Amino acid sequence: MQTATVLVARYDPDQAKLVENTYSLPLKEDATVLQVLLHIYENRDSTLAFRYGCRCAKCGECAVEVNGRPSLACLTKATPGMRISPLRNLPPVRDLIVDRSPLDKRLSTQRLYVSAAVCEALGAMRIPEVYRRLAGCLECYGCVSTCSQFDWKNEGFGGPYVFVKLAQLHLDPRDTEDRRAQAASLGIRRCSSCRECRCVKGIPIRRDAIGILLGERQRE
Ligand code: SF4
Ligand code: SF4
Ligand code: FES
Repeated sequence: MQTATVLVARYDPDQAKLVENTYSLPLKEDATVLQVLLHIYENRDSTLAFRYGCRCAKCGECAVEVNGRPSLACLTKATPGMRISPLRNLPPVRDLIVDRSPLDKRLSTQRLYVSAAVCEALGAMRIPEVYRRLAGCLECYGCVSTCSQFDWKNEGFGGPYVFVKLAQLHLDPRDTEDRRAQAASLGIRRCSSCRECRCVKGIPIRRDAIGILLGERQRE
């Protein structure tokens, strides 16, 4: 087992800024970023604050940035010299924890569900492949971290996560809402097509979600 140095950029609410801490620790070849954080917490500094849940890429709770890229800590291989930091574009709380509630609140007004009565009436649906990909979204909010157009203080642009949800609903034959109109009202045309919204699960957001909502591609 090699000894490696990792850097954790921790948000300090008293100073209202990120403070970088360097840790030197034993690193197994197949260790994940989450295992490194747990090692630091259990052996070096129990004040380190971070979130996780399932530990198996199902819940989306452990999303952080690793070397500036949104990543699931439990899925991402740890590497010597890596820099772990909180997601950007959401208000930081402490260390690696961000406040997801501004986006949650915004989403609660968007009717991001299919009416239960319609589901019952239509029964099972044929599932297009692109729908399956979009349905893999863990709601980790990692993709908003690197979107230059998203601003949690400004409701003008829904953001990549919201467009993934709207595209999924648009492809759902049981859904009765006009999701393309909804995306338009959430500023989808302001998307610069930069493709920086890299999904932690590999969903090609610009192509599959935004492309479908803009009518550039159809269901498969
Ligand atoms: S492609 Fe659009 S949604 Fe994705 S990061 Fe760029 S501006 Fe944001
Ligand atoms: S699209 Fe990907 S990065 Fe964005 S919230 Fe869903 S799983 Fe997370
Ligand atoms: S702990 Fe659940 S996705 Fe990582």
